[in-house]
Amino acid sequence: AADIQSDITEVLVTEEQIRAKLEEIAARVASDYDGKDLVLVGVLKGAVMVMADFSRALPFAVPMDWMAVSSYGAGTRSSGVVQIRKDLDTDIHDKHVLIVEDIIDSGLTLSWLLENFASRGAASVEVFALLRKPDAAKVHVESRYVGFEIPNEFVIGYGLDYAEKYRNLRDVAVLAPHVYA
Ligand code: PRP
Ligand code: MN
Ligand code: MG
Repeated sequence: AADIQSDITEVLVTEEQIRAKLEEIAARVASDYDGKDLVLVGVLKGAVMVMADFSRALPFAVPMDWMAVSSYGAGTRSSGVVQIRKDLDTDIHDKHVLIVEDIIDSGLTLSWLLENFASRGAASVEVFALLRKPDAAKVHVESRYVGFEIPNEFVIGYGLDYAEKYRNLRDVAVLAPHVYA
């Protein structure tokens, strides 16, 4: 396989910047949820890297659960059709849920998830999204914690894929057009 670096045009957020931001947000979350029954819910598969690093930046033991939903399939555009591929294993009734996401793009995935979780009787539901593309929003999503706002370009790495690849890139980068042209 060709070197992963030849498929990117620009690094938008480095591994080091991500690490520092996760520490900062973990400190906020630790104080905001002090004494509360917090559950982290990661959205598979994109949120795997951010969940792994963010959860380990927290100073207390916290349960993690996972939802698998997909709206992109193999394309570069959100279809707007959200499918549940794997539901939560645990009951979030009366729990304080923090959804952990890699990116808010159109916002369709999270607005759907927020509505879905609200109907399960959670005590509260908030969002931590590592990345947000303000210029791509189709629906507004209230996200209490946002790592970085980025331009409306197709980005990969740190969990984000193109056709299931590039999730293992350490930085967040712009995918070179020759890859999908
Ligand atoms: C991506 C990304 C977010 C969502 C954001 O997931 O990980 O979950 O799209 O896009 P939106 O704001 O336009 O809804 P995807 O559906 O590609 O599944 P994946 O996490 O398995 O890659
Ligand atoms: Mn995703
Ligand atoms: Mg994807």
